[in-house]
Amino acid sequence: MRASDLIRFKQSGRTITMLTAWDALSASVVEEAGADIVLVGDSLAMVSLGHATTLPVTLEQMLLHTQAVCRGLSKPPSEQPLVITDLPFLSYQCGLDRAVAAAGHLLKHSCAGGVKLEGAEPEVVQVIERLVRMGIPVMGHLGLTPQSVHQLGYRRQAKDPVSQERLRLQASELEKAGCFALVLEHVPEALAGHLRRDLAIPVIGIGAGQNCDGQVSVTADLLGLTPRQPPFSPARLEGRTLGIEALRSWLEDQRQPAADPTTAQPPPGSDC
Ligand code: KIV
Repeated sequence: MRASDLIRFKQSGRTITMLTAWDALSASVVEEAGADIVLVGDSLAMVSLGHATTLPVTLEQMLLHTQAVCRGLSKPPSEQPLVITDLPFLSYQCGLDRAVAAAGHLLKHSCAGGVKLEGAEPEVVQVIERLVRMGIPVMGHLGLTPQSVHQLGYRRQAKDPVSQERLRLQASELEKAGCFALVLEHVPEALAGHLRRDLAIPVIGIGAGQNCDGQVSVTADLLGLTPRQPPFSPARLEGRTLGIEALRSWLEDQRQPAADPTTAQPPPGSDC
């Protein structure tokens, strides 16, 4: 699947599904589950690398994790999900050439078929235009943009009419700049519905209600592996609790005193 196929999904009303993966194992699970898109999100900075925010993850770390995700996919190429990888903080904010080099580096050395980046400031819109002209598909990301945590926090965005209007204008700028899809994070459902109608490109929501062309979730949150879940991303499985219980029970078994092989009784009915 290619980024350009997603617009057909929107036109035909087929819901687009996207799940994050951060290594080969998580990618194989997400592929097997049947997601359309595997997102190597920079949330891996928190999920996998233990950072408090997404800001510290580097371009080389994103490449390493994207390569691992690619190795984890095992379906024939024509059936594999589309892999999109996040451009990390400061890889696209320091000039057009550096942004093209960063995005190109990720696509050149992995199976990713596009990049995602956050925001719609004029400088970011210019970057998107340049990347698209260079043949690099770009997914936009508006609403709660975790790379701006020091300005916005992790709060719901676009709660008042003025900021909603601004977000609608920004979304339209991203579409004009050539984004093939837009992630909309933690905004009111009605706004997501307006954007879905306003835009020809698919709107993929997380914490934006059901009125979107697709949904994305952080796999570790869905599986209940992360110690704290975002309020808009409830777990479908108590994975952490279940995993800890399984490991504890294995550890308990290992601590049982070993049977003395010289005094072991043969099983009933055995001649040995
Ligand atoms: O990094 C990430 O996991 C993301 C999703 C929350 C969309 O950007």
